[in-house]
This record gives sequence, C-alpha cells and structure tokens, in this order.
Amino acid sequence: MTKRVALVTGGTGGIGTEICKRLARQGHTVVANYLPALQADAESWQQQMKADGLEMHIVPGDVSSFQSCANMVQDIESRLGPIDILVNCAGITKDKTLRKMTEDQWFDVININLNSVFNVTRQVVEGMTGRGFGRIVNISSVNGQRGQFGQANYSAAKAGMHGFTMAVAQETAAKGVTVNTVSPGYTATAMTDAMPEDVRNAIVAQIPAGRMGSTNDIAFVVAMLCDEEAGYITGANIPVNGGLFTSF
Ligand code: CAA
Repeated sequence: MTKRVALVTGGTGGIGTEICKRLARQGHTVVANYLPALQADAESWQQQMKADGLEMHIVPGDVSSFQSCANMVQDIESRLGPIDILVNCAGITKDKTLRKMTEDQWFDVININLNSVFNVTRQVVEGMTGRGFGRIVNISSVNGQRGQFGQANYSAAKAGMHGFTMAVAQETAAKGVTVNTVSPGYTATAMTDAMPEDVRNAIVAQIPAGRMGSTNDIAFVVAMLCDEEAGYITGANIPVNGGLFTSF
C-alpha cells in the first residue's frame, strides 16, 4: 500500500482520534489539526499516542479562518510532503431552539462545521487533482439528514457539507480524487456526553441497534473510503447510525 500524508481536522477530538489511529496503523503519515489555543492539550494527546506506539504529527490551525488553513497546509506540505488524504472532522455543537439561538451561536457553528470544509479543502484540491490521487472525507451527522430539535445551526451545517461533497465529487472524479460524506449517528464522545442526560437517554432508546455508536464504528468506514481501492465511490453519503435514520 502506498504511504500517504493524511490531514485530519479536529484530529485530537473523539472521532478524530480514532480516525488518526486507524490511518496511522495502516502506515500513513498522519497529521492531526488542533485549535491553536489548545496547544498544551494537543501535545499531551501526541504523548499519549506515542505511549500507544503511534507517531503522530500535530499542527495548529483555526479551521474557521481561510488564512489560518492556508498557513497550516503550507506548513504541513513543506515538512511532510503533499496531502493526499483529507478528513474534515472538526466540529462543534451550540444547541438551542431557534427562538433562543443567538447570532453568535448560529455563525460559530456554520463557520466551524461548514465554512471550514471550504477553508481546508480549497487548499489541497488542486494538488490532489494535479497529482491524480486524493481522498476527501467529510464527517457530517445523522442530524444533517433528518434535522434535530435544538440544532437548526448544526443540522444546516451538516446538511450543507453533503451538498459540498456532491458538487466537488463531480469536479474531481476524472482526476482520481474521491469526495465522500460519512454521517455518524449518536457516537460516544465528549460531544454526546455534554447532552442533557434525559435527552440522550430518550434518543438512545430510539436506536434500533440498541446502543450508541463507538468511535471505531465511524473510523472503520472513513478508513475504507480512504483506501486506494475505494476509487469508484465518490459523492456518496455513508450513514453509520445503528439504524436511527434509514434512507437511500
Ligand atoms: N421534540 C418536541 N418537543 C421537544 C423536544 C423534541 N425533541 N425536546 C424538547 N421539547 C419541548 C419540551 O418539552 C419543552 O416544551 P414546553 O415548553 O411545552 O414545556 C420545549 O420543547 C423546550 O423548549 P426550549 O426552547 O425551552 O428548550 P430548552 O432550553 O429546554 O432546551 C435543547 C432545548 C437545548 C435543544 C435541549 O433539548 C437539548 O440539548 N437537546 C439535545 C439536542 C441534541 O440532540 N443534540 C445532539 C448533540 S450530539 C451531536 O450533535 C452529535 C451528532 O452529530 C449526533
């Protein structure tokens, strides 16, 4: 298998960490992006990975800023070489019903979850099409597909990500680049831990699989899409939600 350079935004987070581990175990050079203000946390994450036998690179970058992403990608490519795999995994929630949602809560979620996908992907797409190989995976959500009470901002951003996926997949398919979405359901991470317990319990009770997803459930699919052999899957959305929302 060809060894690639993979950038995972939000790579030190719950789902991001598992994606980094899986890609690293496959032999790729993995770079985890983190928010510049969280450098100490990212360094201890890197130490933890090292203790687990995995050599990870870390790079600061604010995915909501186009210029910060330009600097980040330039830094990675000058140190490690061209980025062939990009996983857009950075994301936040600021849940509120619309009648209570502030302008900041709306724009923060749109900037970090959706505009980030443009900000980062724009930096790597020409390199990938020029070299004739690329794998881009956007981490969306079941709540982008079905909407969720209290998540007008998040549902809009996550639905928007898949529109981006479908459009860019068409622009890049002839050049060996695939662009896909993975839509996790409720996955056991700090993000779902932060939900009100009664709301979380009520949602888990509706999951046909009878449990929340694990980060491994998600990373498995992401790694599959990043594989050399997945070159004919593009513009797709792959739900990984235990049956919580079914569609075709
Ligand atoms: N459907 C219909 N009505 C509902 C409802 C629902 N799902 N949930 C609450 N309500 C009702 C309440 O019964 C209440 O009714 P009354 O006013 O008649 O008593 C009313 O709506 C409450 O509305 P408020 O605007 O006052 O809401 P709140 O301030 O109490 O809290 C909330 C709302 C912050 C959105 C809270 O419900 C919440 O945190 N929900 C979780 C949302 C969620 O699923 N987030 C996912 C986070 S994880 C993630 O995002 C990862 C991923 O991709 C899956």
